[in-house]
Amino acid sequence: MTSPQERAEQLREQLRTHDHHYYVLDDPLISDREYDLLMQELLELEKKHPELITSDSPTQRVGGKPLDKFNPIVHRQPLLSLDNAFSFKDLQDFDRRISRSTAQREYVAEMKIDGVSIALVYEKGSLVTAATRGDGVVGEDVTANIKTIRSIPLRLRTPVERLEVRGEIYMPKAEFVRLNQQKEEQGERVFANPRNAAAGSLRQLDPHITAQRALAAFIYDILYLEGHHLASQWEVLQYLHEQGFPVNREARRADSIDKAFDICQEYQSRRHDLPYEIDGVVIKLNSMAERAELGTTTRSPRWAIAFKFPAEEKETRLLAVEINVGRTGIIAPTAIMEPVSLAGTTVSRASLHNFDLVREKDIRIGDLVLLRKAGDIIPEIIKSLPEHRSGKEEEVIPPALCPVCGSQVVHPPGEVAIRCENISCPARLKESLIFYASRSAMDIDGLGPAIIDQLVERGLVGKLEDLYRLQAGDLESLERMGPKSAANLLRAIEDSKERPLHRLITALGIRHVGAKTARLLTQRFNRLEDFFQVTEEELTAIPEIGSIMAASIVAFFQEPRNRITVDRLLQAGVNGLEPTSEQTDQPLTGKVLVLTGTLPTLSRNEATELIEARGGQVTSSVSRKTDYVVVGSEPGSKYDKAVQLGITILDEEALLKLLHS
Ligand code: IVH
Repeated sequence: MTSPQERAEQLREQLRTHDHHYYVLDDPLISDREYDLLMQELLELEKKHPELITSDSPTQRVGGKPLDKFNPIVHRQPLLSLDNAFSFKDLQDFDRRISRSTAQREYVAEMKIDGVSIALVYEKGSLVTAATRGDGVVGEDVTANIKTIRSIPLRLRTPVERLEVRGEIYMPKAEFVRLNQQKEEQGERVFANPRNAAAGSLRQLDPHITAQRALAAFIYDILYLEGHHLASQWEVLQYLHEQGFPVNREARRADSIDKAFDICQEYQSRRHDLPYEIDGVVIKLNSMAERAELGTTTRSPRWAIAFKFPAEEKETRLLAVEINVGRTGIIAPTAIMEPVSLAGTTVSRASLHNFDLVREKDIRIGDLVLLRKAGDIIPEIIKSLPEHRSGKEEEVIPPALCPVCGSQVVHPPGEVAIRCENISCPARLKESLIFYASRSAMDIDGLGPAIIDQLVERGLVGKLEDLYRLQAGDLESLERMGPKSAANLLRAIEDSKERPLHRLITALGIRHVGAKTARLLTQRFNRLEDFFQVTEEELTAIPEIGSIMAASIVAFFQEPRNRITVDRLLQAGVNGLEPTSEQTDQPLTGKVLVLTGTLPTLSRNEATELIEARGGQVTSSVSRKTDYVVVGSEPGSKYDKAVQLGITILDEEALLKLLHS
């Protein structure tokens, strides 16, 4: 018989291995469901035997109590900074300085991740503290927040007495876009770039909030290690990798500064294709013995330098400011500019976020403005260039009335946004319908913005639930809609009634509740009615759900207008049930897919959601465990690898067929 303690240890070991494969190697071994079952078993075992809980158990990643403040942590040795180089000449000067003490120099070039520096301390193999860099001498204790980052091991693969490492916490570009979109919808201030977003997420007193942000990490340095001698940076990276840390696989060796510069240029040309933001390349002397000889100044080591990429900024003219009303009623200005090419794409629009910001930045229509891409993706006006004004520029005035329905605009306290509070405002209704019908929500094929515009403008749909009252005649009366397409759309609307509950929960557009949370919720509550009486306590008992989210869900279902909508949707025949696991034998259950290249109609996110919704899993690297590789135009090396390994290749059409089989 296995004792509870032995079983707990077995489960922990398995969960650790799966976390490592999923989050670090990007090569999962089991399905999400199998993983959830292991986690569930461990949670139950620990609930029954609380004395068995260890601080490095995978169950302890989320659920830490909110803090009042962060405690200071004095670093065992100062965390140094780096000198910068901006040109090849700066690199040559650096190399020349080093050449005085070392004749034969080998360098390691690493991507310079634009994130937040942290130091992690492991004792007897377990993570004990995590601290921000702070001023280099004293940082802040952010251990509870760091534990929520799944790629950071809570336990080393080969425990040692004491290990201290340094690395960078970052926010992937896609997560930055998602988070800012969510913030904008909620009338909050957006983050200027992924670095600020990572820092802001780490500085949350409630670890639940950090857990909601998909932060990631790369570890690149050892500050202290007992009992091992590592002779070079290359060995350090190898050792860190073997211990289970996420290590950036792009590090390269260069036997001259010229070669190191070539790497800098190559990385610079690839920076926009990476899923995370880099702001340069760090060039480090490889040999530890040579480093020791050179030593450090008080601020930075003499054996390393940061080659910084130039900022990518462009000037262009602001032609107009468009005012849009979003799904949550937020009225936001968008800049329309003379098109310019910037960081790999042509840009002509940029969100101005809110009117306060436009005033603060003194941006006027007709101004020459300086543009960049926040997080390498989102176009953003940095500032206007008033020195080029002719005097004819116009100020941007916030509207007093909703530009769509004419209701009085409100400026809720504590928000940066102004809102139209009329829930029947056609603009809000249209946006809600677009969201409701979207692929990640109810997936109503053929119900796009153009049709929705007409339905609302002709008064055929005045509330969400009216969708299910539409008749063939209503649809046929729309522009560019024949009897056949009307019948198809009607069928698609009818089919949407069968969608599982998590899609309906997503589609309702509850604040703070996205597709991922909706899935989490429906693992515990599988009927829509279950939500009518749910309490904040019941919700926060789910490990990943924090108090803000719980309050928002409760408030949504307590609001009478929402209750009416939900009741009417159910009356119309919308399912409102989550199938239990026996019913979910879906076409892609247990299958692993990899996407490469650009698909003709689906974005990468949409394809991933569709695959996951049908039980499949999307990973980023091709291995023998991959079942299908979905190939679009300009595929990468994943395509070659798939051919090499003889893996079935699908195009978008074949994928869609498979999804609907
Ligand atoms: S090495 C003593 N390597 O860049 C050497 N730093 O501008 C310490 N950074 O404070 C730094 N990626 O936060 C190193 N691969 C990398 C890095 C990296 C990002 C950050 C780090 C440091 C800053 C210096």
